[in-house]
Amino acid sequence: MLKASEIFIDERMQWMKSDDIRPYVFVRPENRILEPGRLHRRLDWFPHEVIYKNPLEMDQVGFADRIMYLETAAFGPSGMAMPRWVFYDCAIVPGFVAGFAARTSKLSPEMKRLLAVDEAIEWTPLSLFIIIPTMSRDGEWVAHNLCSVNSILPKEHQVYGIGFISKAFGLWYANVRTCCGMTQWTSPSVKLHSNYGDFEVLTAYTPVHSYARTVTYRLIVDTESWPAFFHKQERKGFHDRYESAGFDVDPVNDQSLISFQRRLEGGEGPFFLDPRETRIKDLNAPLKVYRPK
Ligand SMILES: CC(C)(COP(=O)(O)OP(=O)(O)OC[C@H]1O[C@@H](n2cnc3c(N)ncnc32)[C@H](O)[C@@H]1OP(=O)(O)O)[C@@H](O)C(=O)NCCC(=O)NCCS
Repeated sequence: MLKASEIFIDERMQWMKSDDIRPYVFVRPENRILEPGRLHRRLDWFPHEVIYKNPLEMDQVGFADRIMYLETAAFGPSGMAMPRWVFYDCAIVPGFVAGFAARTSKLSPEMKRLLAVDEAIEWTPLSLFIIIPTMSRDGEWVAHNLCSVNSILPKEHQVYGIGFISKAFGLWYANVRTCCGMTQWTSPSVKLHSNYGDFEVLTAYTPVHSYARTVTYRLIVDTESWPAFFHKQERKGFHDRYESAGFDVDPVNDQSLISFQRRLEGGEGPFFLDPRETRIKDLNAPLKVYRPK
């Protein structure tokens, strides 16, 4: 059994033990997962009772407003804030939102100010992870959105690890085995997304997206590897299973991304990234590309 204590490498993770910060699931009743955590039984990181909110109830609009406030603050600067109708049509109706929320009354006055909380809402969302089932025959899900308060709070008020743990919670909760997703090459989220399981690059250059420097990825969830994110250790067995593909990808060089994309389209893959390398390197630094041995 993988214990939460294995990842508490420093005091900054103590929030996970507090009853004043709990996991939430914002889901319409028909989409509720029947047996949360059934697939990843080796993990007991999420012992708290989950707070359920039903987005189809008018009175839950305040909770939705707080999620949207956080999302807009996190993605506004990169020009990718989610329109509210996209939130409803593409996230709430087909999938669900998971994350962590703080008991509003227990937040410090400074946190209340920074998060512009609504005192009438019992729980204030601190993070959100949106996940949607896809048409894939293999039961693949798509990770549509991830953000946390850490992107808008000064260092001294940050909730260390909440971005990583929020996606972990959503994957655990919904018994997700395979998950694809998309992000921009130089986004800090690459550090997180590549650490939930073997991380395959599906597109390296994606002109159909608003941002061509988008990477589309697929990961096979491997809960045992999750503590490595915090310890920054090598993924167990990674170098036994993968070898260098003989080239690097430069996240800030279109020619490098296009050349990688051409290899993918030419069927030379599958290609993978080393989770430890993405974790410890600068966001703009070239990364080694791997293929299965
Ligand atoms: C990306 C995001 C979800 C990360 O969540 P988070 O709560 O900040 O990250 P966590 O606390 O779980 O992870 C901590 C690690 O990530 C690193 N990290 C987080 N943001 C970083 C940044 N901007 N640059 C470099 N590293 C960063 C932290 O330094 C920390 O590493 P450390 O242990 O070496 O100190 C969050 O920053 C965010 O909401 N960003 C804006 C929205 C966004 O870009 N979302 C991703 C699109 S898919």
